[in-house]
Amino acid sequence: MLNEKKPVEQLTETEAAEELAFLASELARHDALYHGQDAPEISDADYDALKRRNDLIEDRFPALIREDSPSRKVGAAPSLTFQPVVHARPMLSLDNTFSDEDARDFVAGVYRFLGKLPDHSIAFTAEPKIDGLSMSLRYENRRLVTAATRGDGTTGENVTANIRTIRMIPQTLPADAPDVVEVRGEIYMAKSDFAALNAEMAAQGRPLYVNPRNTASGSLRQLDAKVTASRKLRFFAYAWGEISAMPAETQFGMVETFKAWGFPVNPLMQRLSSADELLQHYHHIERERPDLDYDIDGVVYKVDRLDLQARLGFRSRSPRWATAHKFPAEQAFTRLKGIDIQVGRTGALTPVARLEPITVGGVVVTNATLHNEDYIRGIGNSGEPIREGRDIRIGDMVIVQRAGDVIPQIVDVVMDERAEGAEPYRFPATCPVCGSHAVRDINEKTGKVDAVRRCTGGFVCRAQAVEHLKHFVSRHAFDIEGLGSKQIEFFFEAEDSAMQIRTAPEIFTLKRRQQKSELTKLENIDGFGKVSVEKLFEAIEKRRTIALHRFIYALGIRHVGETTAKLLARSYGSYDHFGEAMVEAGSLAGDAWNELNSIEGIGEVVARAIVEFYKEPRNLKVVSALLEEVRPESAESRLRRTAPSPARRWSSPGRLKK
Ligand code: IVH
Repeated sequence: MLNEKKPVEQLTETEAAEELAFLASELARHDALYHGQDAPEISDADYDALKRRNDLIEDRFPALIREDSPSRKVGAAPSLTFQPVVHARPMLSLDNTFSDEDARDFVAGVYRFLGKLPDHSIAFTAEPKIDGLSMSLRYENRRLVTAATRGDGTTGENVTANIRTIRMIPQTLPADAPDVVEVRGEIYMAKSDFAALNAEMAAQGRPLYVNPRNTASGSLRQLDAKVTASRKLRFFAYAWGEISAMPAETQFGMVETFKAWGFPVNPLMQRLSSADELLQHYHHIERERPDLDYDIDGVVYKVDRLDLQARLGFRSRSPRWATAHKFPAEQAFTRLKGIDIQVGRTGALTPVARLEPITVGGVVVTNATLHNEDYIRGIGNSGEPIREGRDIRIGDMVIVQRAGDVIPQIVDVVMDERAEGAEPYRFPATCPVCGSHAVRDINEKTGKVDAVRRCTGGFVCRAQAVEHLKHFVSRHAFDIEGLGSKQIEFFFEAEDSAMQIRTAPEIFTLKRRQQKSELTKLENIDGFGKVSVEKLFEAIEKRRTIALHRFIYALGIRHVGETTAKLLARSYGSYDHFGEAMVEAGSLAGDAWNELNSIEGIGEVVARAIVEFYKEPRNLKVVSALLEEVRPESAESRLRRTAPSPARRWSSPGRLKK
């Protein structure tokens, strides 16, 4: 799915609040899928992108940060399949730093906090940030007694049996180790082991694993320790929890002690004494990164002296004495195998790159966005050359970049490797789904050609029709439980008139058609069953009355998002008023048109899109068929329930511009 979200800078406060609410529930759902059921629905990159968007919105609107914000959570709540373990000392997370400048600020901040020191120089350690899962290993009387995942930071899962299968983790400690010690560090899967495992999966024709970290996590969280034993998991020790006697006075000394006790420690860790040195080492590790046999996503800086760590202490979620300097977007080279054109709800043709699979920052990437046809040709949004004008051709060696972005993108091509005779890509002038002409509109205001080419097929186009239906049933529209993308595709493709759904009103006639039909009963179809069919009908019946703004939003009018739909609902009060006025406004002059344009928050582009929608006879037909089946609640009657207010007329919209 391509991210067509508004840039955060353009969000209004209401939109921001709505999106934060959505992100909180969506991220919680993905956490549960990932940690609780080991069945993630989205890639790590997509998950990170959601989180990053949440952070960006919160940065801009700090007043809107929610109690249940994903940014307040350290990790996921532990799952129920393993015994819970309460950590003797919480397992915290690290603050992130994204630039050299921020890294210098971190060092300066430490100096500032500590004030004047007698010898004045503060040493730091710098080491790779391993992209695995953190683990706490508790030894009592020098024997491993408990191994626990981080969980939510306070309570983790007891995975001792599984950890015992990892050979590089000592089961016992030497005689000089303290009576109680919790050694903490990262469990990971080597890139080479991951590749070998996937090669085996491919040979057996089974689905491939997504990335080493997910696979390590899945391998560790097996109820059957034999499965864990069959996967090669590894460990780096870098921290500690409860400890009955400290064996060293510095971070560096502690890690050396772990090494002496038989734990693997990272060879790239160094003790350094200035911001310059830390940054030098950071860039060294960054250069080494592609050659390391494990995924890393940054460099961790820690104050070396433990007494200074103690003075610096903690903020709510992370220590003040450490930070993780993250690497910027990751890039990789791969071959562009082909370009597919996807057709969206509004007919937009979006080119998607099909790539020779490549791991970028720990994620296997097979698709990337190419934005639009100008982008492929080396032309930017304002007509300026991008990539120094280099175009992108099928067969090219390309540079793929993965950042906090929802979908990876192609940022450049390697001209030296272009095959002789490679042809410039010809963007289709017809819709690949329905064959209708695909055109680039001229923006009436700017006189410029639109970057996006659109299919002119409208409802004739299968792709647009299906996407329209998906939008209609989506969460912020009709939100019909049990009617997701998969089911919509099924009903759309169905040939039998007793179960076909090609337009929204047909959702509401499905039950009647089913009752009449003897032959094709839904409950006999694979994946449905009697109970789920009944539930589906119930869910559909529940939506026969619907809030006006949801109804308007569900129509899928171009440029009419949730916020605009709410504005329209509030302004016109009832669907009758709204519909009538929009038809009347079709002349682009007169009262109705002026009134629509006078609503604060509705600009000319939006106003035009709405009246265009109401000029299309096919749309009017679908809307009136829909109104036979469902009743949009009028906004006034909803208001009246709480506070009586004089009836508002459509001819005097609520929020007028000054
Ligand atoms: S130090 C008090 N060192 O990053 C914090 N953490 O975002 C102690 N991680 O949960 C953590 N490599 O799983 C530390 N060299 C490293 C690390 C590292 C990876 C992970 C760890 C932690 C997370 C924090």
